[in-house]
Amino acid sequence: MKIKDFELEVFFTKYEFNIPYLLTQSDCQSISINELLSYRDGAKEEFLNLSLGYTEVCGAPKLRQMVSSLYTTMDESNILIHSGAQEAIFNFMNIFLNKEDHIITQYPIYQSLFEVAASIGCDTSKWMLRQNNEGWYTDIEELENLIKPNTKLIVLNSPNNPTGYTFKEEELLKIIEIAKKHNIYIFCDEVYKGLEVDNIKRPWLADLYQKGISLGVMSKSYGLAGLRIGWVATKDLDILDKLTKMKHYTSICSSAPSEFLATLALEYSDEILNKNLSLIKRNLKIAVQFFKKYPTLFKFNAPMAGPVGFIKMNIEEPINEFCDKLVKEKGVLLLPSNIYFYEGQYFRMGFSRDNFDISLKKFEEYLIEKKYV
Ligand SMILES: Cc1ncc(COP(=O)(O)O)c(C=O)c1O
Repeated sequence: MKIKDFELEVFFTKYEFNIPYLLTQSDCQSISINELLSYRDGAKEEFLNLSLGYTEVCGAPKLRQMVSSLYTTMDESNILIHSGAQEAIFNFMNIFLNKEDHIITQYPIYQSLFEVAASIGCDTSKWMLRQNNEGWYTDIEELENLIKPNTKLIVLNSPNNPTGYTFKEEELLKIIEIAKKHNIYIFCDEVYKGLEVDNIKRPWLADLYQKGISLGVMSKSYGLAGLRIGWVATKDLDILDKLTKMKHYTSICSSAPSEFLATLALEYSDEILNKNLSLIKRNLKIAVQFFKKYPTLFKFNAPMAGPVGFIKMNIEEPINEFCDKLVKEKGVLLLPSNIYFYEGQYFRMGFSRDNFDISLKKFEEYLIEKKYV
């Protein structure tokens, strides 16, 4: 199998660990193991006495049970733990798709959500997210028009990376109605769930649709990317069985310390999510003030949910060149829209880091120094 480079990861490899002002990150501010263990009395002791043997392929039973409790219609038999979300995307596309299949993906979207299918040889169509003055939106009729006789899968990412768009429940129900009519599965990457800026809790896709697969992870909303714990939730047990057999070839099982820490974090799920959401809201207030100052240079729509927004910049030079100079000269990292193969002059900004205000100040300094404003 041949697969194209993952542009976002290639870009981050250059900068993520040597740049002071990360203004584009999609994972929430992380915490130390010590801080996480201090959530529950006795947790430190249990952690230190943990065995470092293999764990169960499908994930530790307590962890699967905690994950299933996030849903309304799942139990642990519906959950398969993976190494981050990325392993689950890669494995799912590989067990589910053949080269004769057609898939439709929401767009712009995280690259692996269409690239793995493309590498299998599938025909892929883009269902575009569109933007007007109020923000990002989708046209569900457009989705139905993209369906072909061999369409096997619709791929969604809600809340969406990079736009921060999230489907309202009635939209999800309409998409499901279309999928049912055409006998199509839906894979919904929901790794940013729990960070609803508008405070509306929306259902997970797998709770609504028998042929729905929900993807979740500890990396993003929980800010625990270093655990590399993700999961797939679905009522389709045949898919779970195939995914388990695929996992035998990829990671076999997750790391025991990570499973322990993920279980502990999920016991305090609401607290951790509320903490991260409060930080995003604080930073969004700062961002709103900033973008108000420069209405002709930027078009900014705050995310409906999640830690990132996709911001249009009104400049002549290509956005990737602007971002390259910004990071090299000022140490401020923004992700240019070409990383998403997206036409138009956009960059992704992240609102989930402690030093957001400082990084934004540095960005503003650069704009002033270089006479953009
Ligand atoms: C939408 C989306 N899905 C999946 C992933 C991969 O997550 P993980 O790092 O947990 O594998 C990312 C990471 O940026 C993402 O943005």
